[in-house]
Amino acid sequence: MDRIPEGRFRDMLHGVPLGHPLHPPLVQVPIGAWTSAALLDLFPRTHRAATALINVGIVTALPAALAGTTDWSRQNRSHQRVGLVHAAANGTALGLYLASSLARIRGRRGWGRALAFAGLTSVGVSSFLGGHIAYHMAGGANQAAYAVGRLPGQWRDIGALAEFPQGRPTATAVGDVPVVVVRSGTEVSALVNICAHMGAPLSQGELRGACLVCPWHGSAFRLSDGEVVGGPASASQPTLQARVRDGRVSVRRSRGGAMVPRQRQRERDIERSAVSGTAQAGK
Ligand code: FES
Repeated sequence: MDRIPEGRFRDMLHGVPLGHPLHPPLVQVPIGAWTSAALLDLFPRTHRAATALINVGIVTALPAALAGTTDWSRQNRSHQRVGLVHAAANGTALGLYLASSLARIRGRRGWGRALAFAGLTSVGVSSFLGGHIAYHMAGGANQAAYAVGRLPGQWRDIGALAEFPQGRPTATAVGDVPVVVVRSGTEVSALVNICAHMGAPLSQGELRGACLVCPWHGSAFRLSDGEVVGGPASASQPTLQARVRDGRVSVRRSRGGAMVPRQRQRERDIERSAVSGTAQAGK
């Protein structure tokens, strides 16, 4: 799904406005519709309702598949391997439900039911694999979430200002939490150095405008507050408050400022055009 250009639509498919991936909530609709159809198929005189639910499942599976494939295109190899089997099981289920719908339209109710039950079996396999990717392999989880509770609430000295070169992301640590520090003049920004998307060290990323861009899949995080300016990351990057006193840099856990969603979206749009403008200029 790399054919979908970077931008608002792609970010929406990744779930950036939601703050978590869009694919899991979308799959609830076809799974719910198909499971309900299977229950109805067990009872007499429910044929039309079951067919309608199967068709609802077929239609709503498409946006769910689009969101899932978009996420898949920006995952690590190990996730992509399992994701391929997950997608194959979904494709099989969709084919079986299409055949079931056609059989029902042609009045072949027995076949319609049998194909739908086969489809539901395939959905079960696919759901198991989806759960494996999400929970066992942490695909889609916020990889940096654990760090927030481990950051100090009090100011902690992390070194002299001169230890942080201008405009170059520098890796350090606060306790056992890896942190990346970016210095611009006497201004210092600090973020957790584990990309919220899939855990890349952001200190190996690139600075573009007011954002730090992840080296693995290109998520752009605003330095000032960790907001996602461009996916695939859907969760904001945890930031630290930083200050310079007497030539020394100290950090502490950010208190965080809450922006309303519209304000967030406006800021994202402005920052995204700045990030792509900087990238173009650098080519
Ligand atoms: S690890 Fe994927 S965008 Fe950072």
